[in-house]
Amino acid sequence: MKTITLIAAIAENNAIGKNNDLLWHLPDDFKRFKALTTGNPIIMGRKTFETFPKPLPHRKHIIITRDENYSTNFDNCVVVHNLDDALNEVKDANIIYIIGGGQIYTMGLEKATHMELTIVHDNFEADTFFPDFDKKNWKIIAEEYHPKDNNHIYDFTYITYERILEI
Ligand SMILES: NC(=O)c1ccc[n+]([C@@H]2O[C@H](COP(=O)([O-])OP(=O)(O)OC[C@H]3O[C@@H](n4cnc5c(N)ncnc54)[C@H](OP(=O)(O)O)[C@@H]3O)[C@@H](O)[C@H]2O)c1
Repeated sequence: MKTITLIAAIAENNAIGKNNDLLWHLPDDFKRFKALTTGNPIIMGRKTFETFPKPLPHRKHIIITRDENYSTNFDNCVVVHNLDDALNEVKDANIIYIIGGGQIYTMGLEKATHMELTIVHDNFEADTFFPDFDKKNWKIIAEEYHPKDNNHIYDFTYITYERILEI
């Protein structure tokens, strides 16, 4: 089965970023992101791509921009101008991740089969938010609570959603 998964860490108030940066530092969530996405293509907006000091290893990056002149010199990075072309670039992959940010999640929501959401149990001031989605179209297939500890100043919960397909 081919899966297209939105993967995001989102606050209780749907906040995901501010000033083109993340709002929290959650090492275990990073580790999980790495474990899930490594070896699979990742689709992202140009702004999210530019938050990385360099591309993430062992993942083909598909970068969406409206800028026809945008390019990168990195191997394993492809620039496209819409989500359909992004998905076409990875059509041979069975596992595809859409890694943000807000604009790309909004577009990706209608294509996604799954969502890996890390719900950070607090509210944050932000300029970028995860889109609202209709929970009745999604079922929770896995859920794991992670309490705050010495390395994590917030509680959070990993929730895996699968789209409920209409028959
Ligand atoms: N919490 C999380 O899990 C998470 C994950 C990822 C990112 N983030 C955060 O989210 C923020 C970035 O999100 P964002 O919404 O500002 O930016 P984004 O979605 O990463 O990228 C937006 C860019 O994508 C391109 N784009 C958007 N719609 C397009 C369309 N219809 N056709 C072609 N290109 C299109 C445009 O690039 P051009 O301007 O080049 O045309 C646009 O500026 C940062 O704060 C980041 O840290 C959080």
